[in-house]
Amino acid sequence: MKKVLVTGGLGFIGSNFVRFLLKKYPDLQVVNLDKETYCGNLENLEDVEGNPRYEFIRGDICDPEGLAKAMSGCSSVFNFAAQTHVDRSILNAEEFVTTNVFGTYVLLESAKRMRLEKFVQISTDEVYGSIEKGSFSEESTLYPSSPYAASKASADLLCMAYFKTYGIPILITRCTNNFGPFQYPEKLVPLFITNAIENRKLPLYGDGLNRREWVYVLDHCEAIDLLWEKGGNGEIYNIGSGHEISNKEMALTLLKELGKAESLIEYVKDRPAHDRRYSVTTKKLRSLGWEPHHSFKKALRETTLWYKDHAPWWQKLKKKRKEFQDYYDVQYGVRG
Ligand SMILES: NC(=O)c1ccc[n+]([C@@H]2O[C@H](COP(=O)([O-])OP(=O)(O)OC[C@H]3O[C@@H](n4cnc5c(N)ncnc54)[C@H](O)[C@@H]3O)[C@@H](O)[C@H]2O)c1
Repeated sequence: MKKVLVTGGLGFIGSNFVRFLLKKYPDLQVVNLDKETYCGNLENLEDVEGNPRYEFIRGDICDPEGLAKAMSGCSSVFNFAAQTHVDRSILNAEEFVTTNVFGTYVLLESAKRMRLEKFVQISTDEVYGSIEKGSFSEESTLYPSSPYAASKASADLLCMAYFKTYGIPILITRCTNNFGPFQYPEKLVPLFITNAIENRKLPLYGDGLNRREWVYVLDHCEAIDLLWEKGGNGEIYNIGSGHEISNKEMALTLLKELGKAESLIEYVKDRPAHDRRYSVTTKKLRSLGWEPHHSFKKALRETTLWYKDHAPWWQKLKKKRKEFQDYYDVQYGVRG
């Protein structure tokens, strides 16, 4: 039976991907190595816990010994493990450098000793920085703005160097913003949905006109799966839906969906170095046969319903999150 390692599989995209793999491949064994940080949640994969083809290992990608054990017998690695919240990276970048850069290095070193078929590095469109008009291609210069994006860009460079130097069969994916179930409620979509449900303000940075391209998480999973099979080693693939809207439009859409008043929007001080717009070309990926299968409108509606139906899941997390948000707001004088 083929076995693969997913790192960071208790997080938002990783947990959706683990579930996706187990469902799509009845003969695949999936090992999930996750440190169980504040956003790594065992409840995200409660439904597959009893599956004999699924194994969870609590561990850190920065620990070579633990990694070697988890990787043993695996033919592919999907690296989702990361610190991912830009605001947190602005306050303190250390863990971002540790996990996203050093952790990727440890993974690559472990991969050197294995005969892997594929190493898929899950990166982000944020490595390119902001673009006012047009879209970034895979060849565009890396010009990250936040410590988070810089740490991801650094990991990408390490991956390319390990492909060239050691021939590790690596490919890199750079997806735009994701939305869907199981996203930690500090990120824009779940934060806005859950705040609206609780009749709390939706904090919109700056003038709210920063634009993002939104991909439903299962479309992202399908793209990774396709690239696992068809992607070339040493190649980079952008992933994007082309569905671009401003953060203000997103807030208004969610409020309408939930039947809440626009007055819940609260404009707050902008994030430092806040990228104005992200956009990527996806010709390279689409030429392999990928296209998003979920309509933005329908997927966003289903996502909203999911959070409505899973209040106990996010209420616990929001209680934990409050401490960080209060600290951030005071540090940056977000609320005047
Ligand atoms: N969310 C997005 O919109 C988006 C878009 C493009 C790319 N990405 C990338 O996708 C990946 C997953 O993002 P996400 O939104 O699911 O993040 P997330 O924050 O929800 O999950 C990250 C997971 O990694 C785990 N983790 C953190 N440090 C670890 C360590 N040292 N060792 C092992 N596990 C560790 C956490 O416990 C958590 O389960 C990240 O690499 C991110 O850069 C995210």
